[in-house]
Amino acid sequence: MDGTINQERVAAVAHVIGERRSVRSFADEAPARETLERILAAGLAAPYAAAMAPGSALDRRFFVLPRGSGAAATAKAAIQAHAAAALAGGALPAPLRARLEPVSQGRILGVDTAPYYVVVAERGAMMPVQQQSLAHTLENMWLMATALGLGMHLVSATTTMGDDPAFCRILDLPVGEYALNGCALGVPAQPSEARPAPDVGDATTWLD
Ligand SMILES: Cc1cc2nc3c(=O)[nH]c(=O)nc-3n(C[C@H](O)[C@H](O)[C@H](O)COP(=O)(O)O)c2cc1C
Repeated sequence: MDGTINQERVAAVAHVIGERRSVRSFADEAPARETLERILAAGLAAPYAAAMAPGSALDRRFFVLPRGSGAAATAKAAIQAHAAAALAGGALPAPLRARLEPVSQGRILGVDTAPYYVVVAERGAMMPVQQQSLAHTLENMWLMATALGLGMHLVSATTTMGDDPAFCRILDLPVGEYALNGCALGVPAQPSEARPAPDVGDATTWLD
C-alpha cells in the first residue's frame, strides 16, 4: 500500500457495497459448497476483539445447516421453544413481544426456509464485544456473498441462543461460552431493485 488509488479496485468495492441488500426470497437451488466456503473465509478474515478473546486468540466457528437437514429442523424447534419460553416468562417490552410472537409460532425466516442457515459462533467472556466481532464477520460474508451473486439476510433470533442448551447441543458447543449470530444464504429468487446511494454529505458534520 503506497497511497496510490487503484480506481478499478475502488469501483469494484463500491459496487459490491452498493449492491448489498437483505435478500429474503431464494431460488430452490443450493449454492455449491465451495461457494459457501468462500463466503465463510471472508467471515473468518473479519476483525476480532483480540484484547477480549481468551488468550488473545480467535475462536470463531461456522456451522452450515442445509434446508431439510435434521440440524436445521432441530434448530428451528429450539429457537421456537426459546421464544415461547421468553414470552411465557413475564413482562417484556411490547416491541420485543411483537418480534418474539411469530418466532414462538415457528415463523423463523431463514431457518430451514433458505438453502442454508449459517450460524457463526465466537468464544469470549464479554458477549457484547463478541457480538460486535460477529457483526463484522457477517458484513464480510454479506459483501462476499453479494460479489458472488448470492443473496443473504441476517437471522438475528440466533443471537438469543448462545445460552440455550438444546441449540448449543446441535452445534456441540458448551452453553453460554460462545456469542452466536446467523444468516440465511442462497441464490436470490429475483434481482434486487436498485436504490439511490444515500447522500453522505447529509449524514456528515465536519468539525473544526
Ligand atoms: C442488527 C441488525 C439485525 C437485523 N436482523 C434482521 C433479521 O433478523 N432478519 C432480517 O431479515 N433482517 C435483519 N436485519 C436487516 C435489516 O432489516 C436491513 O438491513 C435493513 O432493512 C436495510 O435493508 P438492506 O439490508 O436491504 O440494505 C438486521 C439488520 C441489523 C443491522
